[in-house]
Amino acid sequence: MRIDVISIFPEYLAALDLSLIGKARRDGLLQLQVHDLRGWTTDRHRTVDDTPTGGGAGMVMKPEPWAQALADVAGAADGLPGGAAADGARRPVLIVPSPAGEVFTQATAYELAGEEHLVFACGRYEGIDERVLEWAAEQYTVRPMSLGDYVLNGGEVAVLAMVEAVGRLVPGVVGNPESLVEESHSDGLLEYPVYTKPALWRDRAVPEVLLSGNHAAIARWRRDEQLRRTARRRPDLLERLDPAVLDKGDRAVLAALGWSVGVDGLRPGPGAGLGAGNEAVAE
Ligand SMILES: C[S@@+](CC[C@H](N)C(=O)[O-])C[C@H]1O[C@@H](n2cnc3c(N)ncnc32)[C@H](O)[C@@H]1O
Repeated sequence: MRIDVISIFPEYLAALDLSLIGKARRDGLLQLQVHDLRGWTTDRHRTVDDTPTGGGAGMVMKPEPWAQALADVAGAADGLPGGAAADGARRPVLIVPSPAGEVFTQATAYELAGEEHLVFACGRYEGIDERVLEWAAEQYTVRPMSLGDYVLNGGEVAVLAMVEAVGRLVPGVVGNPESLVEESHSDGLLEYPVYTKPALWRDRAVPEVLLSGNHAAIARWRRDEQLRRTARRRPDLLERLDPAVLDKGDRAVLAALGWSVGVDGLRPGPGAGLGAGNEAVAE
């Protein structure tokens, strides 16, 4: 997979040299390049922003250095003079981090991990002139994407999170692909609690079933814990779960937690959920 990140703070992305993503770059699994947007400016001051048309606070990123940068990066992807939109070429995906974008989820990460070329355009100030996104749609599939319902100072932090979430799903990046299967959000539920040695630590024992060697019992316990934890911390996820994925054991656990399971989905009853507070006691 090829990934290009364009930013006015390329040094912010230095963390992408570390850990598994850094190794994937060195191993050639990810061709990741970080570009300085100011490299596409033409004035002495390397200006990338201007005042907002119509008035208001802050500054807006000017269209021109962005257009040059995006055209070059898309064109460089396939070496064609017409850029990536040329006949037969798969369009690169332009991800524009924005608190006004669709929310980035694990499902998005899986979707993007199947792409050949991702380009991330890090906004700063009040964001990028909207016409850049319209214009870029001629060459790219454009996806404004939010990390969550809060506002950051720039797109770089969001890009670090998204590149890591997508990159680790690219085959070969995570050594043991099985570790991706049971993770939080991979099946619509949160992951079960995990433990390591020693079996007894500061008077706290690991759940006995995990020492039993009974793989079926361990799998059942883990599934039950997934359901309990999700009901407690993220009931919204349970409400979105397809009832068809629930077996008899799941349904019994949910009933004990006060949830009803109908053909149209899962609904919390009056006694459902302890809330997120007092978590340690609840667990
Ligand atoms: C200060 S923010 C601009 C916020 C913008 N004026 C708004 O209210 O939608 C500057 C940049 O930070 C990035 N950013 C801020 N919050 C973000 C979020 N929740 N997810 C992704 N990117 C974000 C975007 O690149 C954005 O252009």
